[in-house]
Amino acid sequence: MKVADLYSLTDKVAVVTGARRGIGAAIALTYAEAGAHVAMCDIEMADGELDAVAQKINELGRKSLALKADVSVNTDVQYVVRKTIEEFGRIDILVNNAGSGKGTRLLETTEEDWDHTLAVNLKGTVLFCREVGKHMVERQSGCIINIAAIGGLKAIRDYVRPYAAAKAAVIMLSREFAREVGPFNVRVNAIAPGGIRTELTRSIWGDPERLKQATAGTFMGRMAEPEEVASVALFIAGEGAAWITGQVIRVDGGALA
Ligand SMILES: NC(=O)c1ccc[n+]([C@@H]2O[C@H](COP(=O)([O-])OP(=O)(O)OC[C@H]3O[C@@H](n4cnc5c(N)ncnc54)[C@H](O)[C@@H]3O)[C@@H](O)[C@H]2O)c1
Repeated sequence: MKVADLYSLTDKVAVVTGARRGIGAAIALTYAEAGAHVAMCDIEMADGELDAVAQKINELGRKSLALKADVSVNTDVQYVVRKTIEEFGRIDILVNNAGSGKGTRLLETTEEDWDHTLAVNLKGTVLFCREVGKHMVERQSGCIINIAAIGGLKAIRDYVRPYAAAKAAVIMLSREFAREVGPFNVRVNAIAPGGIRTELTRSIWGDPERLKQATAGTFMGRMAEPEEVASVALFIAGEGAAWITGQVIRVDGGALA
């Protein structure tokens, strides 16, 4: 196989959740540039940003699908999977990217905060893994990437965050699911980003003092751009990573090294 083919997703079908902005949008666009058709969903569509990403994918000569869905609602997940298969015939790659979370401390966390954080970050990933996993097992082919966070690997704050607990669970889910579906030629990996400049982290990079603190732990002394996660998600989805499964790939500028 030629080197370029290892990074090519020509005519693959990808589903990316939470794709209207940030890391999800960067992954969707990178996949389209690599040749994939991309179905995307997001809980927010009214601002037109998801449609704008879909439009850019079409301008790259690839097909897109933009759907409104809440990843934590099973009927929404089934709708996204059904529509994608109706439109594109199959799903080769799933990226569970949708996530959110306030950095609340456990002692101040309400039951509602806890339920919401776990629902979006963990339950949404579980529901999509289950629905798309069945399809991939049947086809004996597929690649799933779950976007976790370095906070799911190390206690990086001096307090408990429901978000970190959810991401830690996403990591173990990814490892065990990789084992469950490995015999069916389906790979499952997690990517654990460090600080990435997106709307989610605006309160950090928008404040010089917080930015200094947040980047002090990295070897590179900076936050990263969403495209720096997307390029890793591209490698993992491609043939070059055919023997990589059950892994957590840290994309963190050395923060946890
Ligand atoms: N930015 C970082 O520093 C960082 C670090 C580690 C991990 N992550 C993870 O990367 C992923 C993407 O984060 P981002 O920084 O691009 O955030 P972002 O807030 O810019 O984008 C997240 C997207 O997910 C969507 N979303 C939220 N809840 C949803 C739901 N229930 N159903 C469907 N869509 C939903 C949002 O509308 C938004 O478009 C998240 O899982 C996040 O936890 C981000």
